[in-house]
Amino acid sequence: MTWKIVVGGDNAGYGYKEELKALLEADDRVESVTDVGVTGRDDAELYPNVAVAAAEKVAAGEADRALLICGTGLGVAIAANKVKGVRAVTAHDLYSVQRSVLSNNAQVLCMGERVVGLELAKELVKVWLDLEFDPTSASAEKVDAICAYEGE
Ligand code: RB5
Repeated sequence: MTWKIVVGGDNAGYGYKEELKALLEADDRVESVTDVGVTGRDDAELYPNVAVAAAEKVAAGEADRALLICGTGLGVAIAANKVKGVRAVTAHDLYSVQRSVLSNNAQVLCMGERVVGLELAKELVKVWLDLEFDPTSASAEKVDAICAYEGE
């Protein structure tokens, strides 16, 4: 499986977004990387606009996943989750990253540049690329219940 991934974040997450984008672009498990901004530390685009733009690409099937970085990883997750069909989580530890896909079928991983060390963030992204949701697992009916609430 190779992934089409959208990356994005605000100016507080710009450094990690660029570092993690480079990591993704160099990884054989990644088919494409689309950057929806921001373009630099002086780019004042608000995190909700970037997060929603990324999430809409996932919802539309233009991308499989999104990786969003802001200061905390919180605001981008809140915003991305407003897009129908999108499940976004904030995770900075191995178990949460694993369960976000295996239990929750989350397509969007959010991290905070002010929260997690860069090298840990890189390792978590590498793990993330190997994770796939099993639709025959016991978690499927729980994810289905989320989708049902959204009317999917
Ligand atoms: C900085 O604007 C900060 O509020 C933002 O990056 C993010 O952490 C919000 O959740």
